[in-house]
Amino acid sequence: MLPGPVIYAQEDDRVIVKVINQTPHNATIHWHGVRQRLSCWFDGPSYVTQCPIQPGQTFTYEFTLVQQKGTLLWHAHVSWLRATVYGAIIIYPKTGVPYPFPYPYEEHIIILGEYYLRDPLQLEQAVLASGGGPPPADAYTINGHPGPNYKCSTNDVYKIDVIPGKTYLLRLINAGLNMENFFGVANHQMTVVEADAEYTKPFTTDRVMLGPGQTLNVLITANQPIGRYSMAMGPYMSARNVPFQNITSVAYFQYLGATPNSVSLPAVLPRFNDNLAVKTVMDGLKSLNPASVPKEIDKNLFVTIGLNVQKCGRKNPRQNCQGNNGGIFAASMNNITFIRPSVSLLEAYYRKINGHFTEDFPASPLRFYDFVNGAPNNAPNDTNALNGTRTYVFEYGTRVQLILQDTGTISTENHPIHLHGYSFYVVGYGTGNYNPATANFNLVDPPYMNTIGVPVGGWAAIRFLADNPGAWFMHCHLEIHLTWGLSVVFIVKNGQGPLETLPHPPADYPRC
Ligand code: C2O
Repeated sequence: MLPGPVIYAQEDDRVIVKVINQTPHNATIHWHGVRQRLSCWFDGPSYVTQCPIQPGQTFTYEFTLVQQKGTLLWHAHVSWLRATVYGAIIIYPKTGVPYPFPYPYEEHIIILGEYYLRDPLQLEQAVLASGGGPPPADAYTINGHPGPNYKCSTNDVYKIDVIPGKTYLLRLINAGLNMENFFGVANHQMTVVEADAEYTKPFTTDRVMLGPGQTLNVLITANQPIGRYSMAMGPYMSARNVPFQNITSVAYFQYLGATPNSVSLPAVLPRFNDNLAVKTVMDGLKSLNPASVPKEIDKNLFVTIGLNVQKCGRKNPRQNCQGNNGGIFAASMNNITFIRPSVSLLEAYYRKINGHFTEDFPASPLRFYDFVNGAPNNAPNDTNALNGTRTYVFEYGTRVQLILQDTGTISTENHPIHLHGYSFYVVGYGTGNYNPATANFNLVDPPYMNTIGVPVGGWAAIRFLADNPGAWFMHCHLEIHLTWGLSVVFIVKNGQGPLETLPHPPADYPRC
């Protein structure tokens, strides 16, 4: 199936999924946005919380949706397999608990995706070997359908039939690999009521933007003349300076009574580089019930997010380098290019097995010279981000602030940064370099998210209470950047009390 099956659940439900790997590839599944309270063994990123499930093997994931409700997604977390292995997670409120908005007439899942004709693993290898960036998808899809832009598919367009006057809830998910996307419906406004499975103050807009991994719930009322309207996705590519086709895929929002096969009214989306449109959406996201925004912090990390060029032939697992100018594209956080271990990092930590990672991820960047007002400078020698499997260790209960700063010597770009195991409050963001003297913080109703698009050439400040023990991946959710090493692992130690004691790994925990 594409997309894969939907997981329907209720808040606080126990979810048990037995994954049987019938593919010839290694596989894992990650439950993106599920906070995995005391269940870090089941989080899913390969070589971080588990070894992959090998062909023919099985692994049973078990976790509780503790105080979580809303729209999330699951996806494969090995190589580029999530290109085709993904699906929605819908968590309803507990029985009898009302929504903070009038319940809509109907709800629909809308998953934005990218489809590649090549095997995703071969695609990853080819892109790595080229030393350059990824190709565009062969098709951009809505619920697996490529839309009428592609010759083969004019009769195979995803469609929602609507009744005039009724209101619908759209559960929007961006499950794509490498593209941030605008989404809008022709002639209709949408009211955002939830972001990353947390209620937001209602905010009305005619377009939204979702980075890969992000989810939004929007309400839309069929209040226009009877007809067929386009629901469209289009690229947001803050880094590129070449125009790109503005609409990459279309589905239909079709009124009962519309002439069948009538021409659909086109949607209008912002241009591919419209940073202001993205900021407007971000500005609109405010928590509805901001329960526990940390007002004070114990640890403040300054983390640069950088794209750079690594020279070929350095001590580098990516030896087969044929990149441009004697270099390959790479990425780093605080000038460390993450190299994935060949075991489960979490298990190595838990069993105290030495030699697979270090605990010296720096609390601020090692080098500052590629950090010039968020814009690329041409320091030609910034080929020396260090390769390493470095983690940062937090004591249990630390109130953490991360200042995420976009930088880079080859380009700056909006990066959807995702943290596993937690949601975090986005207390501030802005353009240019972070400056504590002028930065505006919102400690009243900041959005509570699991993936934040750090503005191009700008910064975002996030806060969370490190109270869930485990090894938690934080990475750019643009798959190519993850491949290039734009990630880090945070280890959160166990507390003392029985509740905080890390349970043992399950019996069927995969071996590497
Ligand atoms: Cu949705 Cu580490 O990923």
